[in-house]
Amino acid sequence: MRRKLVAGNWKMNGSLAQNAGLLDAVRGGMASIPNVDCAVCVPFPYLPQAQQRLAGSSVKWGAQDVHQLEKGAFTGEVSAAMLRDFGCSHVIVGHSERRAYYGESSRLVAEKFLAAQKAGITPILCVGETLEQRENGTTEAVVAEQLDALIQLGGVGALRNAVVAYEPVWAIGTGKTASSAQAQAVHAFIRQRVASHDSQIASGLCILYGGSVKANNAAELFAMPDIDGGLIGGASLVADEFLAICRAG
Ligand code: PGA
Repeated sequence: MRRKLVAGNWKMNGSLAQNAGLLDAVRGGMASIPNVDCAVCVPFPYLPQAQQRLAGSSVKWGAQDVHQLEKGAFTGEVSAAMLRDFGCSHVIVGHSERRAYYGESSRLVAEKFLAAQKAGITPILCVGETLEQRENGTTEAVVAEQLDALIQLGGVGALRNAVVAYEPVWAIGTGKTASSAQAQAVHAFIRQRVASHDSQIASGLCILYGGSVKANNAAELFAMPDIDGGLIGGASLVADEFLAICRAG
């Protein structure tokens, strides 16, 4: 059995004062949920705060993006080694908001993924289709392109000890969750595609679902055979809601 992972994606939200209560509540609550892994991906400036408040607990912390190169003249960017310096265990790469608003290609996302892994950080590779793509019947082609870019650049071995998050763009922040059957179908597709290269890596791969996961739909989603947890946006900002989702894992 793969262990469930519930990761929070705070996006561009929070303040020192708000985060303090949220981090402490998640830390305290996770102490009684030992069977589920939990991580929170916070905005860059709050990494030291997450590190201070979560160190020594079962809750891990991470970032929401990373630069693909090690260092240099890239004003405004943050490297994987810097994330490592602040104890990050995870980093999200290729979130649909990065792909849509910052023009990140699947090739660039694959480079970021490999840079994180090289620094010892577990990347969470986001994939997923828009509503138009789903309606056109191209969901599998879109997800395959996003996944294959990584396999081509890094080999299937890059997916050992990694996380993939299936996040249909039409479900993110919209309150429209994919049904458990819709999500399961894409998760199974992802696992099969990886299995066509290496069945062992595929069976160990952690595939999260993201897109309007809430306490009231998490258990049904997490019960599906290929859904190994969730990437949680809005609901990760409310401690009780986030912990209830973790408890469903
Ligand atoms: P949501 O966001 O849970 O608010 O839909 C998920 C995500 O974007 O990772």
